[in-house]
Amino acid sequence: MRYQINDNWYYTDHYTGSLNSMPKERLEELEQVRIPHTVKELPMHYCNEKDYQMVSGYVRELDIPGDWEGRCVTLTLEGAAHQAEVYCNGTSLGVHGCGYTAFETDLSEHLRYGHRNRIVVRLDSRESLNIPPFGHVVDYMTYGGLYRPVYLEVREKTHFTDIFVMPDDRKHLEVQVQAAGAQDCQIRACVLDGGGEAVARMEEQKFQDHFHMHVPRAKLWDTEHPNLYTLRLELLRYGKVLDEREVRFGFRTIGMKPDGCYLNGSRVQIRGLDRHQSWPYMGYAAPERAQRLDADILRYELGCNGVRTSHYPQSQAFVDRCDEIGLLVFTEIPGWQHIGDDAWKDQAVQNVEEMVLQYRNHPSIFLWGVRINESQDDDSFYARTVEAAHRLDPTRPTGGVRYLRKSSLLEDVYTYNDFVHEGNNRGCIPKAEATPDPEKAYFITEYNGHMFPTKAFDDEGHRREHALRHACVLDAALSHGDIGGTFGWCMFDYNTHRDFGSGDRICYHGVLDMFRNPKPAAAVYASQQEERPVLEVASAMNIGDHPAGRLGEVAVFTNGDKVRLYRNGEPAGEYGPSLRYSHLPHPPVLIRDSMAPESRASAKGWLAKLREKLAGGTKAETQYMGSWGEETASWTFEAVKDGKPMASVTVEPVERIHLEALCDTDTLVDGDTWDMATIRLRAADQNGNTAVYANDVLHFAAEGAVQVEGPDFMALEGGMGGCYVRTTGMEGEGKLHIYRGREEEIVLTFRVQAKQPAVPSIE
Ligand code: GAL
Repeated sequence: MRYQINDNWYYTDHYTGSLNSMPKERLEELEQVRIPHTVKELPMHYCNEKDYQMVSGYVRELDIPGDWEGRCVTLTLEGAAHQAEVYCNGTSLGVHGCGYTAFETDLSEHLRYGHRNRIVVRLDSRESLNIPPFGHVVDYMTYGGLYRPVYLEVREKTHFTDIFVMPDDRKHLEVQVQAAGAQDCQIRACVLDGGGEAVARMEEQKFQDHFHMHVPRAKLWDTEHPNLYTLRLELLRYGKVLDEREVRFGFRTIGMKPDGCYLNGSRVQIRGLDRHQSWPYMGYAAPERAQRLDADILRYELGCNGVRTSHYPQSQAFVDRCDEIGLLVFTEIPGWQHIGDDAWKDQAVQNVEEMVLQYRNHPSIFLWGVRINESQDDDSFYARTVEAAHRLDPTRPTGGVRYLRKSSLLEDVYTYNDFVHEGNNRGCIPKAEATPDPEKAYFITEYNGHMFPTKAFDDEGHRREHALRHACVLDAALSHGDIGGTFGWCMFDYNTHRDFGSGDRICYHGVLDMFRNPKPAAAVYASQQEERPVLEVASAMNIGDHPAGRLGEVAVFTNGDKVRLYRNGEPAGEYGPSLRYSHLPHPPVLIRDSMAPESRASAKGWLAKLREKLAGGTKAETQYMGSWGEETASWTFEAVKDGKPMASVTVEPVERIHLEALCDTDTLVDGDTWDMATIRLRAADQNGNTAVYANDVLHFAAEGAVQVEGPDFMALEGGMGGCYVRTTGMEGEGKLHIYRGREEEIVLTFRVQAKQPAVPSIE
């Protein structure tokens, strides 16, 4: 039985050993916190890595029932950044030196059954630790805190210690089981489908640590149909069930060929982004709902089918959601360019083992990253990490991200950060230039990023170029045919160390901003999908915002077949996908102003126009999009699919703006942990277009069963922003009032449920 213990922790940012013996009255003077917890809330701009470097202490008192005596009681910290030492009633039970994998300790021999017990966690979040990713500069904040759930597990002494499910695409299941004290036990298994119905059974038989099952009716797992099943295992002794475990999995195989990844024997071209696990203010300490939202944004808003969890294993909640929605995950060990001494390397090898053991039942994980991101070759070290991954998981390939070309390749695939694209050159290098072994698959694991930092509040030309650079690399990678996939740097802007970023400790590398609001580059990804109509015009059509009043080339991102343009309601032409990006499923539509000198004068312009006419009968230019001293037109862009209008956007001078909120839920569940709603905000004009220069100040006020997480005010940037509300432990209704200036513009109402614990409280 699992008992979540995420509430009622006492916290101090100065650990002392006396926490182990401190009288309860003194303990109560400490701050009381709920997990996920960050050791320090940070500002979004100009935060400082020094602020979270400390040795903090967390204390939890537990009344342990007398009848737990004789059982196995373990404590798991799912994410403790970065080095945790757990004490039970004053005895140290061990130290764990990875902030990104779970740490389990056995409390059984140290608990006082039928009494009050004290758990203390000494948590070191200093970057001077001799563990990955530390030792040199790191381009991301590493934060600190017990930032993922903490729980107890109470089991009979005889219990499962590990279950590894190895399904395939022939509907077979190979299961490896480890159990403590199971020599004279029996085992029973059944497979449940998504609806909870048993679709295969293995009747009770003598315990064995390895068996097979077959599920003839099983449906395969893939990116389009992420069918999931659950293996339920029971460990019995003479009819009495001693332990039960459930493991969710999908029937599928991963294979690699020279041209990429094969899922169930079919090639899948991966289009993904790199993701950090950070949020404004709270750093890593966001609950499950926000983790899952990121996966949904990648899949449904950005139309991706892959993600790289750069540069460390991320929360189980995030990967669970990837399993559910068919998002392929490349996960990797923590690290950034630096390789440390022998003790550091031992820890990195241990990190590989923990990553594989803790995540190997997720069907979405298709590749283990077993090198320190962008580090130098080190064959003896990497022979160990590759061996560890293969030993613990023979079913998945290994990779390891480098910026080196033709470096020593011990893994199964070559994964390379290709930053060759600078805006006016090729989008990527051919596979043959990067990898020493053309027989092995090849993936581009980063591009763009620092090559063109882009703020949501940069000017239109900059944001447009950012988007087209993403389109260019995606197009180039597809043009080669033997590049298995791409992961763009990166999903959203992130806080970083002083050595990187724009001076305010932010790397503006995202296709989304930190609140997960889209920049135009997001539409490049979104428009590659078929699931929903996408039409984004990357221009506000204001001539006065451009040099010499010329709009130049207007970029439109759509998954329609073409775009019809209307000027003041009158047809002004039809425009097809740009031939420059012809390898993309849906290239951008680029509309040039025929009056712009580059269109009028250049032979290249005429030639392009002719080519595009011949290709699709569509134009690439419109009359003129406005000139200085003229009344501004109203422009309507209509995306057409299969001959029918699919979506339209009207762009015209802004008359007035209003605030729009996109909130991920109106129901919050204060259950295993506190819960949080994500509210994305933007100033929109009368046509629903973002008013990018609305830097308005917003103010947030919460009432009832919710409170604001982070500051209760912010200024919009690029017309966009965000806010978070969290549960307080109360049930009932909560409201969030959002003010723009003095005016209340939006009120959001939340229903908060307090989930009853599955079993009576152990307090
Ligand atoms: C890479 C690195 C990433 C990020 C990126 C910025 O070198 O792996 O973590 O720093 O550059 O473009």
